[in-house]
Amino acid sequence: MKKAVLSIDKLNKISEIDERIYGSFIEHLGRAVYNGIYEPGHPSADKLGFRQDVVELVKKLEVPIVRYPGGNFVSGFRWEDSVGPRDQRPARLDLAWFTTETNAVGLQEFSQWISQVDSQLMLAVNLGTRGADAARNLVEYCNHTKGSYYSDLRRSHGKEEPYGVKVWCLGNEMDGPWQMGHKTATEYGRLACETAKMMKWVDPTIELVACGSSKMAMPTFADWEATVLDETYEQVDYLSLHNYWSNIADDTASFLAGGMLMDDFIKSVTAICDYIKAKKRTKKEMYLSFDEWNVWYHTKESDTKIEHWIQAPPRLEDIYNFEDALLVGGLLISLLKNSDRVKMACLAQLVNVIAPIMTEVGGKAWMQTIYYPYYYTSVYGRGEAIRVIMDCPKYDCQEYTDVTALDAVAVKNSQENMLTVFVLNRSVEEDVSVRCDLRSFLPKACVEHVKLEGYDYKAFNSAANPEAVVPVQGETDLLREGYMETVIPKSSWHMYRFSVED
Ligand code: AHR
Repeated sequence: MKKAVLSIDKLNKISEIDERIYGSFIEHLGRAVYNGIYEPGHPSADKLGFRQDVVELVKKLEVPIVRYPGGNFVSGFRWEDSVGPRDQRPARLDLAWFTTETNAVGLQEFSQWISQVDSQLMLAVNLGTRGADAARNLVEYCNHTKGSYYSDLRRSHGKEEPYGVKVWCLGNEMDGPWQMGHKTATEYGRLACETAKMMKWVDPTIELVACGSSKMAMPTFADWEATVLDETYEQVDYLSLHNYWSNIADDTASFLAGGMLMDDFIKSVTAICDYIKAKKRTKKEMYLSFDEWNVWYHTKESDTKIEHWIQAPPRLEDIYNFEDALLVGGLLISLLKNSDRVKMACLAQLVNVIAPIMTEVGGKAWMQTIYYPYYYTSVYGRGEAIRVIMDCPKYDCQEYTDVTALDAVAVKNSQENMLTVFVLNRSVEEDVSVRCDLRSFLPKACVEHVKLEGYDYKAFNSAANPEAVVPVQGETDLLREGYMETVIPKSSWHMYRFSVED
């Protein structure tokens, strides 16, 4: 069996983890909102129409921030349609997804749902069909206390206190020709800069995210980032990254190595940020918001057949399998490894639409395979990220070369005196025998080991069989004089938790 030597030393601190890297996303798309989080008449719905079975599953994930209302949807969104008396709200054609949006649920209702799930709003403004004026009015509506047109309008809608939305996205995927109001980098950069200025003049405490590329493979990637940052560097706080992974080629060896692309994407964008920082001779550091990431491909073909202009048709309802869960576990490891620059990230999305949580109309809510690595990493991956140094067997595959079989990161939680280690064996061929030095933390015991292992790559959960793929408790007798010694089977994901003295 191949061997790996690992070292986790407290001197190898990456960063304090910003918990917002465990964010998610709800768009007015498919059944995310209607017949997802909101289903009046469902046995578990409260008086607002929000399904409490879904609320419970979201709360367990401890999602700190939720991006809303899009996505592509936001680029045609008139926020004024989504507040005020419901019977006066217009139905609109949504040209992002070719549906009819009734606005029965809007900003007003969604913010109530956000409170129910103990999270925070991350609001995106429309820089597709609209611009700076609508955006600054929305900040005034949400965050200004009183005594102005839009703050008083909010109060007249029954919301005395401001919403206090802290994080705002300046549009969505503006580099994409599919976007309503798609722009060149210079056009977008100028608009984002002027919009940012006005939004911060209304509320100087907000944080702003400028649009980076909608995937690393975009032909404009890198030039887009450099141009946008050249226009906006002093006005914005974060640059966004989006990427979706696919195994359409049915090449599991490459698919499971997808964390290599995430690492590379983050490193490349960081380099561009630092280039503009140097060019501008500023001390300001630009941080990253990976505010759309997930596996997405299972439904791409079938969704092209959906009839236009119906309300909330099932769309992007990817059913995730075991290999998808492994990759999601690996992508979370990558976010943690890069937590010195990535301060926010959103698993896209949260309910029904490329989501960890699925619902049946009138029926149950259930957890997809990807729910589990997201759950364990979000709940236990808080504190200080520590780099794992390794001498590990490598493999080459179709898409990548020199892939270390293991990908890993550790998290030290000083309040609880716990060290949590997340490991993915992404090799499809090799079990790896591991000896991992933990001595600098003075480890006392391995108190928990959770693993996702041994399933068929294509095995999946469903409403009828929601526990076909679930993590199980693994061996905990692993500690030998400060070293963890174990075998990590091929194609498996693990979380080890150690009580430590230091
Ligand atoms: O998350 C689904 C879609 O993916 C979003 O609307 C868009 O921003 C991205 O292309």
